Amino acid sequence: MKDFAKQLRFNIFFGLMLGIYASCYHHDPVDTSSIEEKITFLIDDMTLEEKIGQLVQYSGYEQLTGPGQKDSFTQIKHNRLKKGLVGSMLNVVSVEDTREAQTLVVENSRLGIPLLFGYDVIHGYKTMFPVPLAETASWDLEAVEASSRISAIESAAAGLHWTFAPMVDISRDARWGRIMEGCGEDTYLCSVISQARVNGFQGKDLSANNTIAACAKHFAAYGFAEAGRDYNSADISYHTLQNVVLPPFKACVDAGVATVMNSFNEIGGVPATADKHLQKEILKEDWGFEGFVISDWGSIAELINHGVAENKYQASLLAFSAGSDMDMEGYCYENSLDSLLSNNLIKLEQIDESVRRILRVKYALGIMDDPYKYCNEDREKLLTLSNENLGVARDVARKSIVLLKNEKKLLPLATDIRSIALIGPFAKDKDVPLGNWRAQAIANSAVSLYEGIENQISANTKLSYAKGTDHSIGQRAFHAEMTINKTSVDDIDNAVRVAKNSDVVILTLGEDCYQTGEGRSQTELTLSQAQLQLFDAVKKVNDNVIVVLMNGRPLVLTEFENNASTILETWHLGSESGNAIADIIFGKYNPSGKLPVCFPQNEGQLPLYYSQKPTGRGGAKPEVFWSHYTDISNKPLFPFGYGLSYSEFEYSEISLSNPTMNEGESIIAKITVKNTSDIPGDEVIQLYIHDVVGSISRPLKELKSFKKVFFKPQESKDIEFEITEEMLSFYTINNKWETESGNFELFIGTNSEDCKKIEFQFKN
Ligand code: BGC
Repeated sequence: MKDFAKQLRFNIFFGLMLGIYASCYHHDPVDTSSIEEKITFLIDDMTLEEKIGQLVQYSGYEQLTGPGQKDSFTQIKHNRLKKGLVGSMLNVVSVEDTREAQTLVVENSRLGIPLLFGYDVIHGYKTMFPVPLAETASWDLEAVEASSRISAIESAAAGLHWTFAPMVDISRDARWGRIMEGCGEDTYLCSVISQARVNGFQGKDLSANNTIAACAKHFAAYGFAEAGRDYNSADISYHTLQNVVLPPFKACVDAGVATVMNSFNEIGGVPATADKHLQKEILKEDWGFEGFVISDWGSIAELINHGVAENKYQASLLAFSAGSDMDMEGYCYENSLDSLLSNNLIKLEQIDESVRRILRVKYALGIMDDPYKYCNEDREKLLTLSNENLGVARDVARKSIVLLKNEKKLLPLATDIRSIALIGPFAKDKDVPLGNWRAQAIANSAVSLYEGIENQISANTKLSYAKGTDHSIGQRAFHAEMTINKTSVDDIDNAVRVAKNSDVVILTLGEDCYQTGEGRSQTELTLSQAQLQLFDAVKKVNDNVIVVLMNGRPLVLTEFENNASTILETWHLGSESGNAIADIIFGKYNPSGKLPVCFPQNEGQLPLYYSQKPTGRGGAKPEVFWSHYTDISNKPLFPFGYGLSYSEFEYSEISLSNPTMNEGESIIAKITVKNTSDIPGDEVIQLYIHDVVGSISRPLKELKSFKKVFFKPQESKDIEFEITEEMLSFYTINNKWETESGNFELFIGTNSEDCKKIEFQFKN
């Protein structure tokens, strides 16, 4: 057993002071008033240095003990840890390492306040789930919650307390590499998916040893980086901020998210890290957020680069006054807050408030009572990468696949098909499907598509393989160059040979997993020339080509799409990728995914999204002076919400319980959906609303609800949606959330373009 001496002293102190709290080892996680009292007593006992220490987070990439300590910088950090002058660490993983760091702090520091261990568990810890954009394509809240739940179980079993997820940044620009980390372009979809993620990570009881604190990031507008270039300015209107960007964060706060991370970008000249209106007034005051705000990596020090602070002292003043509670790897607060205080530029109460917010999360997690509660090697072994976890990963992965085209009804294939040629750079790849931001995934551990197909075909099926071409290598390391479009075409002849001799070709195309993610913005989103050449060559000799795309962002498919009858979007699906894709290919699972973001015709259309405003000159016209391009249409290649199934669905007209909705009331919209095929399947039925005349111009369509419904063969179901006032409200010209009287259009359909329509009136 570890020595809990310091912790015990700290508890005895409480016991004496409070009388009623005999021991802090046994707190009731739901009794928040007692936690607040404990925090008050603890803060009273802390020195200024200890308080500031709680606001500091270090990364643990250096060894805490051993040779790393020889370096003086590491030595300083090490000493600060020992004195209890660090509140949190990131990138320290595994029971062994977190215990080592925790021991250093708990057993050496005066008060023994435990460290909080944070990590980027973005789509799994060791068991990898689809990258978040892909998983959003499932439109399946239960599946999304289940994957976050397992990620939390595995992370907590590895000693972690906190994930820097979900990323809830809306993005409408596929050039931005981090689009893969979020929920895509839509505010409502992102809000409900992010809530499911928070619920999955945090569970019902944050103090349980299999739940972790979540972090809604990046607050705010990071996904609107100009021209899709990462870290760039986001120059957006206040109404876009309120109506589009902020609601997913609010949804997370409503779901009880423990922490929020601010963002690198500036908005209208004010870096988000220094934005008082965002962090203090909106997040903490208006929304009543009680957790804490962590800066992004070094974002406080970057205020100097933004040109709003001369030095770390000024940067600290700006960020701290704006409500950034914890400094991630910025080395600002630890050296500035005490002098800012003695110069009367900040108040002690402000420091106390930030400390309180951080301690609140530590108490909620239960680590104040037992700093080692997450440290158990047996649980770590038992709960990580288990068969059960992989089973869920396979299910979530197949739900995330989107069938883009199946014109010749090539899919699903029979498992006893005579011969298959599996071709392409990703066919045997076991690493790319793991995706970027892969936490502790074991390299090359995904089920490849080749293995997945092999697992399902009959003994009589001949499976041949040719790579055809290499794939581009994304920037894997800090200083790596990317080999894009430099890929070899040496194996194309071989690919043609196997394609010629097979009944069907499954051709994998796409992008490397390190072409998306942080710092991986791109101006060209087409497939490499080598891949396009491969497609053409194979198509020439075999007409039955099934294209299986693997990518982390929307790609420009225009160059070959017209010539491809069958396209399956499989993203980067995680550990069970090959099995999940094979489930779809052989019809074990009927595709039900829908795009969470438009696929553009070309990069020139970006940013592109379905919920466009009307403009003064909208609508397609055979003239020159209207809002359009002269070379291509305004439409995406594949719209938001789009995705096919092996079943076919027919939508009736919509009926309303009442054509008029009065204030405080709701109405019911009803539609009958029929599966006209003999194949059972799920359909995501989507509801959009358009406020025809508003105090500010309103989008032509906005998703407001959806239902994922299972249909038996030939089954028909009446689907009802309740239309509430909340669905009609927006941040109006009065800078308030309001509902305005007037006419509304209501759409229900299978994607954002293909919908039935009806009108109603709202009166207040
Ligand atoms: C990213 C964050 C991430 C942090 C810690 C930053 O560069 O923007 O999303 O949580 O690093 O790894």
